Amino acid sequence: MSAILRVCQMMGIASKNPGLKIHLFSFLFTFSSLALFCSAASSITQGQPLRDGDTLIYDGFELGFFSPKNSSSRYVGIWYYNISEPSVIWVANRERPIFDKAGILKIGSDGNVVVLDGNNTAVWSSNVSASSNSTAILNDKGNLVLSSSGDTSKKYWQSFVDPTNTFLPGMNVEVNSAKGENRFLTSSE
Ligand SMILES: *[C@@H]1O[C@H](CO)[C@@H](O)[C@H](O)[C@H]1NC(C)=O
Ligand SMILES: *[C@@H]1O[C@H](CO)[C@@H](O)[C@H](O)[C@H]1NC(C)=O
Ligand SMILES: *[C@@H]1O[C@H](CO)[C@@H](O)[C@H](O)[C@H]1NC(C)=O
Ligand SMILES: *[C@@H]1O[C@H](CO)[C@@H](O)[C@H](O)[C@H]1NC(C)=O
Ligand SMILES: *[C@@H]1O[C@H](CO)[C@@H](O)[C@H](O)[C@H]1NC(C)=O
Repeated sequence: MSAILRVCQMMGIASKNPGLKIHLFSFLFTFSSLALFCSAASSITQGQPLRDGDTLIYDGFELGFFSPKNSSSRYVGIWYYNISEPSVIWVANRERPIFDKAGILKIGSDGNVVVLDGNNTAVWSSNVSASSNSTAILNDKGNLVLSSSGDTSKKYWQSFVDPTNTFLPGMNVEVNSAKGENRFLTSSE
């Protein structure tokens, strides 16, 4: 996070420095993807839900909807990003999968992180008492943390201590096109 912020700050400083203007075009071109990353934060807010097909990627972790191997059911989870054998480390709606791609992960009106199906029915909620203006941030440990938007040190909930979570780091769960046996929802046995 701090490294990215530093780059974002450098960009701000650089664009104000007249000496660098001649290189501004190539500079902006080179850093355009980083600039996108700077604006597209690793967080979910009231106004920024996550739809099936979109993912949040942060520091080696990815949050989004996935299907286990040989299944079309959709689950919200966190997994290690871009490794050859995907490992899911947390699953939200493991009891109630969604059967199409109309699901959405958002901050509900009560401030909780919720997973809604295509009928706007909550299939999972962080279900704590939170401020209505809260933010869920994926951090560099692969932990999704729900906190007050105004004060991120005020934590309401985190995926690491979610009692519905039976997945622990190191447990491999095959997703999508991954090779290997399907151990989804059986790895805790
Ligand atoms: C994903 O991993 C592959 C193989 O390790 C690598 O070639 C590719 O650049 C990676 N993609 C991203 C977006 O990191
Ligand atoms: C929405 O509700 C209708 C009626 O209960 C049901 O037939 C349909 O399968 C539901 N759709 C989703 C995406 O859950
Ligand atoms: C939230 O927790 C309460 C108490 O455990 C439970 O009765 C309720 O069904 C839960 N709601 C959701 C949406 O999970
Ligand atoms: C939520 O909190 C953030 C940070 O304090 C603030 O910028 C934003 O305006 C607030 N949004 C609402 C809807 O109150
Ligand atoms: C997944 O499906 C393929 C093709 O239908 C099948 O060959 C394979 O054995 C299945 N794997 C598992 C783990 O069920």
